[in-house]
Amino acid sequence: MSANSHDLLIVGGGIAGLALALETAATRKVTLLRPFDDDRGASRWAQGGIAAVLSPQDSIADHVRDTLIAGDGLCDEAAVRFTVEHGPRAIEWLLELGVPFTANESDEATYPYHLTREGGHGARRVIHAADATGSAVIETLLSQVKAHPLITLEDRLTAIALIGDVRGQCRGAYCLDAQERVHELRAQDTVLATGGASGLYQHATSPYPACGEGMMMAFDIGAELANLEFQQFHPTCLYDPDRPPFLISEAVRGEGGILRDLSGRRFMPDIDPRGELAPRDIVARAIDAQLRESGASHVLLDITHLPKREIEHLFPTIRQHCLGRGIDIARQPIPVVPAAHYSCGGIVIDFNGKTAVPHLHAIGEVSYTGLHGANRMASNSLLECLVFAHAAARCLRTVDPCIDSPIPPLRLACGSRAVPVQLANALERLRRIMTTRVGIVRDDAGLNQAVTELMTLENDCNQRWNACAPSAALMQLRQAIALGRLTIEAAMSRRESRGLHFNLDCPDHEAEPIPPLRFHQKTAGNA
Ligand code: SIN
Repeated sequence: MSANSHDLLIVGGGIAGLALALETAATRKVTLLRPFDDDRGASRWAQGGIAAVLSPQDSIADHVRDTLIAGDGLCDEAAVRFTVEHGPRAIEWLLELGVPFTANESDEATYPYHLTREGGHGARRVIHAADATGSAVIETLLSQVKAHPLITLEDRLTAIALIGDVRGQCRGAYCLDAQERVHELRAQDTVLATGGASGLYQHATSPYPACGEGMMMAFDIGAELANLEFQQFHPTCLYDPDRPPFLISEAVRGEGGILRDLSGRRFMPDIDPRGELAPRDIVARAIDAQLRESGASHVLLDITHLPKREIEHLFPTIRQHCLGRGIDIARQPIPVVPAAHYSCGGIVIDFNGKTAVPHLHAIGEVSYTGLHGANRMASNSLLECLVFAHAAARCLRTVDPCIDSPIPPLRLACGSRAVPVQLANALERLRRIMTTRVGIVRDDAGLNQAVTELMTLENDCNQRWNACAPSAALMQLRQAIALGRLTIEAAMSRRESRGLHFNLDCPDHEAEPIPPLRFHQKTAGNA
């Protein structure tokens, strides 16, 4: 094993990780671990935009209220207020860095940039770069990170576990290189910005969804996880099962897109007075019910009423992509299905991004701040990435050295490597179980069955773990199964339906919301 020392180690180079790197590099030596193929993170695939109070017609109180309503009683109001209040400054920061947000071309514009609407928002407050906001923000931040003399980009290593010492401090991360050799990256402070856990499901809105690896790395050295039963499914992913997933932004509904069944009937107004702009949990469940009742493979999203010029201005990426698949969205409705999109739960952090483990921070989708509650409102996620990256940066600008204490050795088997295709098959099996039994609609029998099925997968995985040399795929499978089990436990313990968690055996809301279930494993050092 090779070992070296770092000051601030950031694991994950999406919008949260990049923003933190830029905001700490003036006073800390930053090492940023991100895959050389930077298309892997979810940030780049974010289309719609970033929600913030920017228009003079909007207010902090309204953004807070809309977020609380979408979160269905489980948001932490202080976290909502903190995030929303810091939103306008986060957008100014992006504008100062030169992110090319779409201008408002209207003569009556009261804010220079176009603001779109999405589900749950009572006002136009989503700033965007056409329909490729994530990519525009990533490109801007990444070019600054690459040019920064005090940021070292490490693109050859994959973090597989955190280094925990006997005092319970985080001391860096164990990583594997392409030859699966172990590297020990010691650090004064470590920050996880590794994304969520949509990869626990068969169909996700991004091509390489994370499987909650960061959540389990943190859990394994003593951090708390919470809110795991609330996995968000985006209502409208392009239906094209044999090709890579492609999101159809909620902004399409924000600009008037209508959902229809295959006979052309508009169904959302019968379900919710907010129609297509009801919060995501409601729209995804309505589509799921349509598909179950009719046996159809998809529903239709119709934007043909918008002038072609406007479609080209607001949705150039979606239009081009759909044209490449033989669909002209200016003339034809788009076939869509729900797909796993965002994890509302994660590593519990405070307003500085601190976890319960000293010297370990977490930001972005891997974390749980309390902002999203039982259902994240559209475009609040990039906002959370930026606000908490800046908050963590304020906390991390000065060094508070780790207390030197022994680090138990990492115990790894040293046999031959597990066969990759067998690991891929096991992960696919896990995804099928999670999709059918722990998906948009659950029931007690399915959840119980999922426990049994995951135990079988876990036993097989443990045998491989005890016999095989480590590989990133084996570690990912192990972490995905463990997180799947915690997710099911969280779902079973919530004896009500709320937000994204809908159980047919307890379909009602409790009058007083059951607080988020927290998981905590008291371990010092690595298991
Ligand atoms: C979208 O454009 O619909 C995705 C935005 C989000 O998930 O917040």
